Amino acid sequence: MGFIDELKAKAKADKKTIVLPESMDKRTFEAASKIAKEGIADVVIIGTQEEIGKNGAGYDLSGVRIVDPFNDPNKQKYIDKFVELRAKKGVTPESAKEQMEKDYMYYACLMCKCGDADGVVSGACHSTGNTIRPALQLLKTKPGINSVSGFFLMEVPDCTLGYNGLFVFADCAVNVDFDSQKLAEIAAVSAESFRSFVGAEPKVAMLSYSTKGSAKHDDVTKVSDAVAIVKEKCPDLCVDGELQLDAALVESVGQLKAPGSPVAGHANTLVFPSLEAGNIGYKLVQRLAKANAYGPVLQGLAMPVNDLSRGCSADDIVGVVAMTAVQAQQA
Ligand code: ACO
Repeated sequence: MGFIDELKAKAKADKKTIVLPESMDKRTFEAASKIAKEGIADVVIIGTQEEIGKNGAGYDLSGVRIVDPFNDPNKQKYIDKFVELRAKKGVTPESAKEQMEKDYMYYACLMCKCGDADGVVSGACHSTGNTIRPALQLLKTKPGINSVSGFFLMEVPDCTLGYNGLFVFADCAVNVDFDSQKLAEIAAVSAESFRSFVGAEPKVAMLSYSTKGSAKHDDVTKVSDAVAIVKEKCPDLCVDGELQLDAALVESVGQLKAPGSPVAGHANTLVFPSLEAGNIGYKLVQRLAKANAYGPVLQGLAMPVNDLSRGCSADDIVGVVAMTAVQAQQA
């Protein structure tokens, strides 16, 4: 069974309610129809009769729940919650209603916050920033976590590196700049993501263009400081750095450049030193190694919300819904 089939099986074992707010896109309906048919999740689409009629025509939507944001008996509850959470930021009942009707991502996050749904998947026709922002504002981080980050579960074909070709790459999606503290937190949370999705022990490499002091620069110090922080906070975690990518992945190079490292040559969780490196890195592996790149999966949020690539297919949406449902089981 492949990685995504295993996830679907896990999702089916304890069905969660996942919201798809993008009724303006036909792929949402194709995916929802498949999700309902396969029994991966209880799926909700947010949309008006007009949007459903226009974009959902021809799809079997039996088993899919539709919530019309202009005609929903629960709407006042969501408006009240929005105001309760964001009054200090200037949100009024009028502006809450307007925002929820204009941007269904807010509606979906409020459904989660009020306990009417367990997770959200969006981004087929919205930017990452616009997908993530409502979740950051309304759902916030898990207790003890300061910042949300985004990982990709990479499945590299015919690869013996990592965990039989499976890797977590982070942060590839969210934090435009981070210091050592944030980088250390990303490492710890990514290790947890690897453990829960892959079911194996994470070996975390904190990546750089330097291995163990081979180069000197503030960028290198940022990574080596992060390694010290994460080692202190998570003494049982198998983490090391700073490591160059080849030292992290290839045993012979690891032995040469970082002898004695418990991670070098065996890394399965790659923590990149910047968003540029992470975002470019996952796309290189996806395109050149023809890897499956599942994500970006957001980690650290109090409830699971996940982004889609705008080039995604309906099957990609189904896969991300399965991942979101599994995260919801663990929330
Ligand atoms: N973790 C937790 N909370 C956060 C984080 C974070 N990483 N970043 C922002 N927040 C919170 C803020 O504290 C703030 O909360 P508040 O309103 O209650 O005070 C709220 O989110 C909004 O913060 P802003 O700083 O105003 O957010 P901004 O509008 O700058 O958006 C965002 C934040 C969306 C994450 C932004 O940093 C961003 O766009 N990141 C890059 C996304 C991207 O383009 N990724 C690459 C493409 S993805 C791909 O290729 C697959």
